[in-house]
Amino acid sequence: MAESLPEDPSSATKTRAGARALELTGKRVRLKPLEEADAPALFDAVESSREALKRWLVWVPEVGAQGDEAAFIRRSGTESARGEASVWGLFEVRAGPLAGIVSLDALAPAERARGRLCVWVRADRRSRGYATEGGRLLVDHAFRKLGLHRVFSRIDPTNRAGRRVLRKLGFRYEGRLRDDWKINGRWIDHECWGLLKTDWKR
Ligand SMILES: CC(C)(COP(=O)(O)OP(=O)(O)OC[C@H]1O[C@@H](n2cnc3c(N)ncnc32)[C@H](O)[C@@H]1OP(=O)(O)O)[C@@H](O)C(=O)NCCC(=O)NCCS
Repeated sequence: MAESLPEDPSSATKTRAGARALELTGKRVRLKPLEEADAPALFDAVESSREALKRWLVWVPEVGAQGDEAAFIRRSGTESARGEASVWGLFEVRAGPLAGIVSLDALAPAERARGRLCVWVRADRRSRGYATEGGRLLVDHAFRKLGLHRVFSRIDPTNRAGRRVLRKLGFRYEGRLRDDWKINGRWIDHECWGLLKTDWKR
């Protein structure tokens, strides 16, 4: 059983394997590095939210079985070890199921000291502040522990919930890229949002 220190946002926690792993704990959610044992819960989260996720996230149709999530978790572990990404399972503090994912990618090369924040939450756990708190925990970790100077995000201009979360985290709107991404067979613009370490107030 993992021990956690809810008052310390970067508490070190013992994993089942006994290794020391970082865990970020807030009032409502806890971020933990994914383990392969999380694959069924991750698949269930995607499966239960497929319609709500596929409008915004390009990878959703590629997830067809638990094995796809196990492969994702292994890939995320490799990318974390190489310093390319930082991928966390978002869990309810009160021992709930995996409720989503919060991640930073585009971390390499390290000299650029920046990363891209992505977050998704399963449809039946939304509007409880989970994405905002999970994002806040990871952004704080990025600035205080990973040494990042800038965190950015890209969203579809029609993604009002995504924009609201970024605003609550203090991100600033920086502009719009035209036809930047093709999803569900159509080109969409992307809004660019950014947060500097000097903007960050916990
Ligand atoms: C965006 C997303 C992560 C938000 O998750 P969440 O846990 O519900 O977020 P929070 O509860 O922290 O905050 C959501 C905010 O958006 C608001 N919101 C939700 N739907 C909205 C809508 N259609 N229009 C405007 N605001 C909306 C909520 O009211 C809340 O704001 P409030 O606290 O001021 O009331 C979730 O909707 C999701 O997984 N979307 C698909 C993936 C995605 O788009 N990710 C973002 C880009 S990486």
